[in-house]
Amino acid sequence: MTGIDRYAVIGNPVAHSKSPEIHAWFALQTRQNLQYERLLAPLDGFAAIVRNFISQGGRGANVTVPFKLEAHALANVLTERARAAGAVNTLKFEADVIEGDNTDGIGLVTDIVKNAGVPIAGKKVLLLGAGGAARGVVVPLLLEKPAELVIANRTQSRAIELVRQFSNTEGNFHASDFAALASPFDIVINATSASLSADMPDIPGAVFGRNTLAYDMMYGKQATVFMQFAAQCGAVTRDGLGMLVEQAAESFLFWRGVRPDTAAVLAQLRQSL
Ligand code: ATR
Repeated sequence: MTGIDRYAVIGNPVAHSKSPEIHAWFALQTRQNLQYERLLAPLDGFAAIVRNFISQGGRGANVTVPFKLEAHALANVLTERARAAGAVNTLKFEADVIEGDNTDGIGLVTDIVKNAGVPIAGKKVLLLGAGGAARGVVVPLLLEKPAELVIANRTQSRAIELVRQFSNTEGNFHASDFAALASPFDIVINATSASLSADMPDIPGAVFGRNTLAYDMMYGKQATVFMQFAAQCGAVTRDGLGMLVEQAAESFLFWRGVRPDTAAVLAQLRQSL
C-alpha cells in the first residue's frame, strides 16, 4: 500500500463518470495528495464494495446511480442535508464511522445562484419530477426562500407524496400535475430522468417566459430536448454540468476541509465533453 489517501466513485454503470477527472483537477489545484478511482459495484454488492475499499485504505467515496439510497442506509452518521434528502452521494470513512452527506442540492443551488447569477430568493420556481433527483434538491431550494416552489410530476400522486414528506419544512410549496401549469415561472428545473432517453416532459410551453431560466440537471455535448424546447419558448437555458462540478467541490470540502475553485474546472470539463 502506498499510504496515499484513496477516494472513489462507486456506481453501476460507472465508466462514464467524470468525477475522477474533476477530483484530479481539484487535487492538483489545492495541492492535495490523493488518488481517485472508479469502482463498479455489482447491483447486489454495494456494501461489500464499500467495506472492501475501507479495508484497503479508502478515505471517502462518491456514490452514484443506483446506490444513493443504499449509501444512506449504510452510513452510521448522516449530515442534516443527507437526512433531509433521504439519499447520500458522498461518504467519508474515519475509524469505524461511515458518515453520509448529500451535496447534490447545494451543487444545484450554487450553480444557479453563483455561476448563472440567478437569485432564487423571491422567485417563482418549478421543479419537474418526484424521484430521487427531485427529492434531493427540495430543502436546499427552500432554504433560498423562493416566493413559491411548485413540484410537478407526470404521475401527480408522487408529487403530492413528495410534498407530504416535507410538510415540516418551512416555505411556500405545493404539488401540481403537468396540465395545470399555465403561467410562466422564473426558474424551471428538470429533475426528471426524461433527458436520459431524449424525451421531453409533457409540460405546457406557457411555463417559460422571456427571462425564465430553464435548467436541466442532465448534461451532454448537445443541448437536451428540454433545453431545446425551452429555448424555442424564449427561455435562457443551462445544463447540469455546473451542478456536477459544484457537488464535487462540496464533496471535496467535506473530505479535505478545503473548497476548490470551480470556474476553471468547469471550463476544462466543458471543453472535454
Ligand atoms: P431519479 O432517482 O433519477 O429521480 P426515479 O426515481 O426513477 O429516478 O424518477 C424518475 C423521475 O423522472 C420521475 O419523476 C418520473 O416521472 P413518473 O413519476 O411519472 O414516472 C420522471 N420521468 C421519467 N421519464 C419521464 C418522461 N418521459 N416524462 C416526464 N417525466 C418523466
